Amino acid sequence: MTKNDRANFGSKLGVILASAGSAVGLGNIWRFPFETGNHGGAAFILIYLLCVLILGTPIMIAEFLIGRRSRANTAGAYQKLAPGTHWKWIGRMGVLAGFLILGYYSVVAGWTLEFIGEAATNSFAGKSATEFISSFDSFVSNPWRPVIWLVLFLLATHFIIVKGVEKGIEKSAKIMMPVLFILLIVLAICSVSLPGASAGIEFLLKPDFSKVDGNVLLGAMGQAFFSLSLGMGCLCTYASYFRTDTNLSRTAFNVAGIDTMVAILAGFIIFPAAFSVGIKPDAGPSLLFITLPNVFQQAFGGLPWLAITLSLMFYILLALAALTSTISLHEVVTAYLHEEFNFTRGKAAKLVTAGCIFLGVFCSLSLGIGKDYTVLGMNLFDLFDFVTAKIMLPMGGFFICIFTGWYVDKKIIWEEVSNNGTLRVPFYKLLIVILKFVAPVCIAIIFINELGLLK
Ligand code: TRP
Repeated sequence: MTKNDRANFGSKLGVILASAGSAVGLGNIWRFPFETGNHGGAAFILIYLLCVLILGTPIMIAEFLIGRRSRANTAGAYQKLAPGTHWKWIGRMGVLAGFLILGYYSVVAGWTLEFIGEAATNSFAGKSATEFISSFDSFVSNPWRPVIWLVLFLLATHFIIVKGVEKGIEKSAKIMMPVLFILLIVLAICSVSLPGASAGIEFLLKPDFSKVDGNVLLGAMGQAFFSLSLGMGCLCTYASYFRTDTNLSRTAFNVAGIDTMVAILAGFIIFPAAFSVGIKPDAGPSLLFITLPNVFQQAFGGLPWLAITLSLMFYILLALAALTSTISLHEVVTAYLHEEFNFTRGKAAKLVTAGCIFLGVFCSLSLGIGKDYTVLGMNLFDLFDFVTAKIMLPMGGFFICIFTGWYVDKKIIWEEVSNNGTLRVPFYKLLIVILKFVAPVCIAIIFINELGLLK
């Protein structure tokens, strides 16, 4: 495909909403609250904000510039900027990471559909706390239901991907993202106005630094990578569809800002509500699927129509956020197959969808009938999460910094960041220092710690 007939996003807003759609997902609404709950609240959030600002945003700019400069899928991008070198393996590792993440991410995404159904049929009504736990456990280990939802979720993703970049990805983001913002704000207002919500608000706003240790610090950095979709070429692939007049650093600030705002709003939905009914915030990954239905039930059970409406809104919100993220993961692999192996876009997408259904089914079954098959003590679902989020993403992020900070000609970096000298970039020097030194050192520390080598 030549440079000129390659797909492009049609508008500036489309660029921002599609990229924010990739970033905003289960990472914000599911993972951020349970990590915040486990790590003690406000102090974790403050450190997270620093990570987004100091590490996440510069690396996002780096991914953007690699993508837009090369106008290629992530593996092709390195090949264009560093022909004949081994850098393309960073791109290939990213494609593999995207495929694996999509495999297990779509399992959780599928659960959101089950919960939309449960909310709509008022099946949370009258359940006790232990019944919420047992019904979640029996759903997740059922061999059929989660698998059917996961297949449906991947088919929805597929349907949007085959419509293409502008008519599929951009258009769907322009519809889904505003709906998502409205739902978030309505739910946050309802949550903070519950009686006794103030304890939850305090948990989010009043830092207790005595709880901060190395783990909190490193947890916050890992969360920033996952939530901003960094380290595997996802935003690099999207940037290959940016126009030449897109302001890369401003877009990165906007996307990081939106992603952070959504995470904080999700916190304001979940914690005030949980505290108001006396539920502890540190339930871990089941916070959203066990704790929250219980919260809806206890807080609004007396008014069934309100309980149904709010819980339905919440799980629809979660499904939409997950969908804009699965689209971005799917696109990384589809663009790679399409451009590197000359498959048509439709055929590439079919291969990716079929492959992900295959992986997803195994991940889903590994929580039920397959839970006795483990590798390194983890079932397949946990293994995929571990290998991607804790090994491949930090490694990818590290090499993206080294690539842009040390390998790529600074003239190229300047041309991309300043749009050939037409934009003022007052923080340019700082950006280079971060990419060269600050970010790689911090990531190396996360990486080593997460492998348990620091203990
Ligand atoms: N950032 C998304 C979320 O918060 C998930 C996601 C999409 C992702 N693309 C990614 C995570 C690439 C890591 C890498 O849910």
